[in-house]
Amino acid sequence: MGKLIQFFELNTGAKIPSIGLGTWQAEPGVVVKAITTAIQVGYRHIDCAQFYDNQAEIGSALKKVFDDGVVKREDLWITSKLWCTDHAPEDVPKALDKTLQDLQLDYLDLYLIHWPVRMKSGSVEFKNENLIQPDIPSTWRAMEALYDSGKARAIGVRNFSSKKLQDLLDIARVPPAVNQVELHPGWQQPKLHAFCESKGIHISGYSPLGSPEYLKSDILKNPVVVEIAEKLGKTPAQVALRWGLQSGHSVLPKSTNESRIMGNFDVFDWSIQEELMAKFSEIKQAT
Ligand code: A2P
Repeated sequence: MGKLIQFFELNTGAKIPSIGLGTWQAEPGVVVKAITTAIQVGYRHIDCAQFYDNQAEIGSALKKVFDDGVVKREDLWITSKLWCTDHAPEDVPKALDKTLQDLQLDYLDLYLIHWPVRMKSGSVEFKNENLIQPDIPSTWRAMEALYDSGKARAIGVRNFSSKKLQDLLDIARVPPAVNQVELHPGWQQPKLHAFCESKGIHISGYSPLGSPEYLKSDILKNPVVVEIAEKLGKTPAQVALRWGLQSGHSVLPKSTNESRIMGNFDVFDWSIQEELMAKFSEIKQAT
């Protein structure tokens, strides 16, 4: 397998780089350096969102790497996401325009509905009194118009169950290219994986390291992961990421630390043998 898992092909025909730098909780003050380092190391995929409140800083980092000739726009894959307050069809194109303005880009490679959850326009806090009934079909039609316009070269969703995906597929003119969900050795979601595969929907895994700080997951200390890491002479993080790639999904590790950004990318010239891959099924899954 080795170096072969550098891209996955989407149902649009586009090739999504298999590792993207996550940017949730990358503070505005450090995200510029993280993006610049990642691109220098070889990352070609950045996972952003309006909700992360750092897109303007990411935009200035991107402008600088383009101006300095480090990479060209067409060499990068930039994903962003429609926030829950912008589901109204008339708000969808405005939200994308604001994201493009912040990122200083004229198109995205992928635009996702962040959650299958809708909040009142202008509301801030993610709490019950701000929630309203989502109308995914009407939001999706607005997403399809962005795809037609070329401002979003692929469209998809995030945090959708198989049921929600099937409901969407039933009404979609443009099927979702990607479902981005939490995925790591401690939350493998095999049924969702199989469903997406059967429908030609690529999965991108967020929190591929189990988000040690936020979710307080200890997947990087899991005995199976640690044992495989020791056998292969790799770090537990590299093993978790490589497991994701070999399972058939792209991975979106977040880091703002230079050595971890580098280490997390060092997963292409080795692989986990089949008998070791089988051991991941022994890992107790989150409930
Ligand atoms: P930092 O940004 O200081 O590196 P996930 O992508 O699963 O959500 O995990 C992100 C979290 O894991 C961040 O807190 C990040 O911190 C940390 N992290 C990123 N890379 C590694 C690594 N190689 N080993 C341990 N922790 C990591």
